Amino acid sequence: MLTKTQVRQLYRETGEAQGLPGFVYTSEDFARAEHEKLFARTWMCAGYAHEIAQPGDVLPRTVAGVPILFTHDRSGQIGCFHNICTHRGSLLVPEAKSGAQTLQCRYHAWTFDLAGNLRATPHWGGHNEPKANGFDRSCHGLKPVRMARWHDWLFVNVDGNAPPFEDYAAPFLKHFQEYDLDQAVWTTCLPFDINGNWKLVAENYLEVLHLPYVHTVLAEAAPFQEHDVITDGACLGTVIDTGLPASWSEDNLPRWPGIAADAQNAKNMALFPNFKLVIGPDHCCSMVEFPQGASKSHQRWDFYFVGDGGQDARYGAARDAIIEFYRKTNVEDFEAVEGVHAGHMSPAMTGAQFSGVWEGAVHHFQKLVADAMVED
Ligand code: FES
Ligand SMILES: [Fe+2]
Repeated sequence: MLTKTQVRQLYRETGEAQGLPGFVYTSEDFARAEHEKLFARTWMCAGYAHEIAQPGDVLPRTVAGVPILFTHDRSGQIGCFHNICTHRGSLLVPEAKSGAQTLQCRYHAWTFDLAGNLRATPHWGGHNEPKANGFDRSCHGLKPVRMARWHDWLFVNVDGNAPPFEDYAAPFLKHFQEYDLDQAVWTTCLPFDINGNWKLVAENYLEVLHLPYVHTVLAEAAPFQEHDVITDGACLGTVIDTGLPASWSEDNLPRWPGIAADAQNAKNMALFPNFKLVIGPDHCCSMVEFPQGASKSHQRWDFYFVGDGGQDARYGAARDAIIEFYRKTNVEDFEAVEGVHAGHMSPAMTGAQFSGVWEGAVHHFQKLVADAMVED
């Protein structure tokens, strides 16, 4: 774990601080501790409403090492529960499914509805006797997991003790107030697997100093010196007033309501620890890390365009151009991140130095990690 000296060095001014040492990124012990001390205690993005769009859809996930389950019940509600049977703890739903009326445990056939209520307990009180004296089914429903929904994105707080999502995320949410995200229509998902710690993937996103060296095309369109750095509570990121092509194809995609026809601005904002949203005048892309131990990360990028019009076939070339632009940028980043991860295996990696001008968000991110990991 981190020593007091390491924490003290981290908490100096950005330009004088020493960052987190290599083992924080490469130790499996540290990665396991993150489950309990960090991921379970905060708000993690863990799913998408479009994945459970219909009543009867159920979606298992693992967050903070804990199996959870999203459900879309018959009344149209999206719920989140611990994915374990309340009888003797069997995993309840091993894989996603559609059209489910109920959830039946494979072990002794306890059966739950999609709102989590326990509906059937066969032979519980004797042969062909489902009831037993003193046993109240209504006390043994699925255990809820605290969940918050923001547009398509589903966040969970596994330990149930984090501040309300609206408070926690307020510094992040305010950056998107001018966008009518109710108009965001999910279009496609790009999954990525990276040989690197999730924190290095996240940190890479939080600074623009690498643009001229890693992203030659992007750097021309969005020079790093034109970005502003944001650090505000759980919100970190960069914003730029220009930078995106004015047009991605001959047909201009529909823009967010109220966004100027010639706007080219982009916001790249992260909500600690694992959610990011990039938004341009006519699209947005969410980026979510799903940590896989110390040295691997799964990431998915989901693309949204504006309204039903943004799905029109005539904009196919424009949508493809945007998605390919992002995909190429991410592949360039992964090569860089994998190099950084390899370097962090060395005992000589005693902590990063930060540019006081450009790397304030990386420094802030590391302090948020340290805040979570040194308590107790
Ligand atoms: S463990 Fe699920 S019914 Fe027994
Ligand atoms: Fe990058």
